[in-house]
Amino acid sequence: MKRISIAVAVLLVAGAGAVMASPDGVAAMKANGKALATVLLPTMKGDKPYVQADIDAALATMADTAAKLPTLYPDSEKGAAASGDFSPSPKLFEDKAGYAAAIKAFADAVAAAKASSKDLDSFKAAFPAITKACGSCHETYRVKNG
Ligand code: HEC
Repeated sequence: MKRISIAVAVLLVAGAGAVMASPDGVAAMKANGKALATVLLPTMKGDKPYVQADIDAALATMADTAAKLPTLYPDSEKGAAASGDFSPSPKLFEDKAGYAAAIKAFADAVAAAKASSKDLDSFKAAFPAITKACGSCHETYRVKNG
């Protein structure tokens, strides 16, 4: 499946005559943003009751993104045109060790929250490490378009 979709993506890009920024990267990040905005943040703020299944699903989405992140931005996308509100920074391609460390910090924070979130208090204790990991990666490896 993955091979086929890559082949299709290559064809589409060739057809369009331009290199597109990672649509998979944007989709994965939008899924992260949605899990954060619809479940984790409202639960954290007390606007939504603690529902274990919802927390588990939101954290599973983030774990899925974390697992994909290492391959989402291949070298071919360096300097590619933007397809979302943000683009990967050139640093992402230049400082691969730093980027890998940022992915690991995020994956570890999500895994820790998955393991420890059993009720509102334990979730609240684990949650800040996740947003910190989102923010520190964005600060260095993401640039705003326009
Ligand atoms: C290891 C690096 C990394 C981590 C961790 C990370 N992001 Fe991102 N994020 C990026 C990069 C790079 C971009 C810009 C390129 C893109 O959109 O693919 C981005 C873009 C985004 C965008 C904008 C998408 C658009 O429409 O253009 C959102 C929303 C987002 N991230 C949410 C999150 C949330 C929420 C988390 C944590 C739960 C998170 N990200 C964790 C690297 C990261």
